[in-house]
Amino acid sequence: CDHCLHTPLYFFLLNRSVLDLGFISTIVLKAMANSLWNSRAISYSGCVTQLFLFYFLAIAEYALLTVMAYDRYVAICKPLHYGTLLGSRACVHMAAAAWSSGFLTGLLYTANTFVIPLCQGNAVDQFFCEIPQILKLSCSHLYLREIWLLLVSVSLAFGCFVFIVLSYVQIFRTALRIPSVQGQHKAFSTCLPHLIVVSLFVSTGIFTCLKPPSISSPSLDLVVSFPYSVVPPAVNPLIYSTRNQELKDALLNLEKWLLFHQH
Ligand SMILES: *[C@@H]1O[C@H](CO)[C@@H](O)[C@H](O)[C@H]1NC(C)=O
Repeated sequence: CDHCLHTPLYFFLLNRSVLDLGFISTIVLKAMANSLWNSRAISYSGCVTQLFLFYFLAIAEYALLTVMAYDRYVAICKPLHYGTLLGSRACVHMAAAAWSSGFLTGLLYTANTFVIPLCQGNAVDQFFCEIPQILKLSCSHLYLREIWLLLVSVSLAFGCFVFIVLSYVQIFRTALRIPSVQGQHKAFSTCLPHLIVVSLFVSTGIFTCLKPPSISSPSLDLVVSFPYSVVPPAVNPLIYSTRNQELKDALLNLEKWLLFHQH
């Protein structure tokens, strides 16, 4: 509602919080419901939906993080063009592109995974449905086309990563040329939350991909998948809100009020 927050940065943040909410609900709500009802079951269509939503939302999130790197790059390196390069139309288009790339990739992944016949039982060694676990249940080596898809998406993800890194190289070069220390500090502090979230997202993602399948066991899979499936969306709002002066002020007031009422 606050007009000061009607900027591209907050538009993308709001958009990402919707994604995070969906991401958490897809995995955690189902796991919580199962543990409440003391069940470990998921229906076939439930599994398909969960797998689709998981990849759709994770990829859209990553695409939005890339768009937000561009936002920071324009804000710091081309401040005079900020209004024209990131007008409201452009922002909506970029967010829509991020959502649709996630949707399309999720659809491709899901279709390619479930087209393979499953013949090794129906026990998923994980607290949610994800591709490696489903492939473990499939017959023979029919999943060559899955590897194709993996190669394409890994190179796209790598392209986004290079884009983010290059944006930050430019941002640091520009910020270090700012004569005043205060100006430098201000430039860096607007990028810090984004940098933290990107590092968290990318490092947990890489960690999962590089984990050798030989050491996989149900309990280890759980320990490894928890950080990337639950932690990034859960800490996103925390990281951004602690850097937000308005929220800090509100918390400070609350603290004062509590102290006052204790004495
Ligand atoms: C997120 O972006 C999409 C696509 O641009 C837009 O239609 C939607 O309204 C946005 N959602 C929020 C909560 O801003």
